[in-house]
Amino acid sequence: MTHLIHRNLRLVPPVAASAAGMYVRDRHGKQYLDASGGAAVSSLGHAHPDVLAAMHAQIERNAYAHTAFFTTGVAEELADHLAEHAPGDLNHVYLVSGGSEAFEAALKLARQFFVEGGQPQRSVFIGRRQSYHGNTLGALAIGGNEWRRQHFAPLLLDAPRVAPCYEYRDRAPGQSVADYTAGLIAELEACIIATGPERVIGFCAETVVGATGGAVPPTPGYFKAVRALCDRYGMLLIADEVMCGMGRTGTLYAIEHDGVVPDLVTLGKGLGAGYQPIGALLARDHVVARLRDGSGAFLHGHTYMGHPVAAAAALAVQQVIQRDCLLGAVTVRGTTLRRMLHQAFDGHPHVGDIAAAVCCWRWNWCASATPRNRSRRR
Ligand SMILES: Cc1ncc(COP(=O)(O)O)c(C=O)c1O
Repeated sequence: MTHLIHRNLRLVPPVAASAAGMYVRDRHGKQYLDASGGAAVSSLGHAHPDVLAAMHAQIERNAYAHTAFFTTGVAEELADHLAEHAPGDLNHVYLVSGGSEAFEAALKLARQFFVEGGQPQRSVFIGRRQSYHGNTLGALAIGGNEWRRQHFAPLLLDAPRVAPCYEYRDRAPGQSVADYTAGLIAELEACIIATGPERVIGFCAETVVGATGGAVPPTPGYFKAVRALCDRYGMLLIADEVMCGMGRTGTLYAIEHDGVVPDLVTLGKGLGAGYQPIGALLARDHVVARLRDGSGAFLHGHTYMGHPVAAAAALAVQQVIQRDCLLGAVTVRGTTLRRMLHQAFDGHPHVGDIAAAVCCWRWNWCASATPRNRSRRR
């Protein structure tokens, strides 16, 4: 008998009694290799001494201060770090408690940006099929994970969705990558025009798809072309890096590979690497400036936002990543992992695509298994 509502109501999972490094131990002493770092979370492994020390020190100093009345040195320092390493003028950081919260904040900030800019008719977000932005109602509405959406569909706001950038599945035999990418951009533009450009707030996409598609990187030039479309129609580009950000692709922000600056970026998972619940929204100068010069406030907030212990954990994680040169290690080990995966699985009937091994750090979510009824093209 359990009083906890577990994910599976018919099954109580093993009790995780302790965890260290790559392993989780249950209360019977059985050891589990946490090869996926949870759901792409524990990028430093468990019980990293530097992160634990930073959390302990912060708890001693100040475990909580409400953000309506106070800021904290550690939250400021984390924001400085994230902004300093972010592409372009993504200089403003809103700290929340997870990925879904970060995405909700992105939706609301984007909407308020247009309301304060005298365009209150902009009310539509365009998303992509086979995508995931979180389980809260706003995030679920934009995401394209049909299984997660089906029960709640009547509660969700309408959001048109276009095809994901999924070359392995969708590029036609004989079609060039450039033509395939151009087709996606044409579809997005057609969607903007059909919706009415004056009604569109922005386009939301995971830079590298995670939860709903394996590890699916964009084709070369895709995000540059998306950025150009957003600029043409005065929309915001919202990049969801909850899963792929914070080093997982070898750069701190996955979008750095594409040389593009989104207007808003969401973070979670690897930001705090599982040591504390934390997510973040990054915003460009012009977005925050409009609110600062307008109403003076972002009409949003949570009791636990900017939590100092969560910020201390995330800051320590980021400092370890930098100090131990882990971004470089991602690229080197990713290359090794890719080679080994090819050696092990090329020609395997259930493995179709090993495209994104380099997008992998300690996690092993890199080989997309091919479902039964799809023949392999390459
Ligand atoms: C791309 C992406 N966005 C948002 C989320 C939601 O994050 P959270 O589960 O922390 O709310 C996830 C979680 O898997 C995700 O992969």
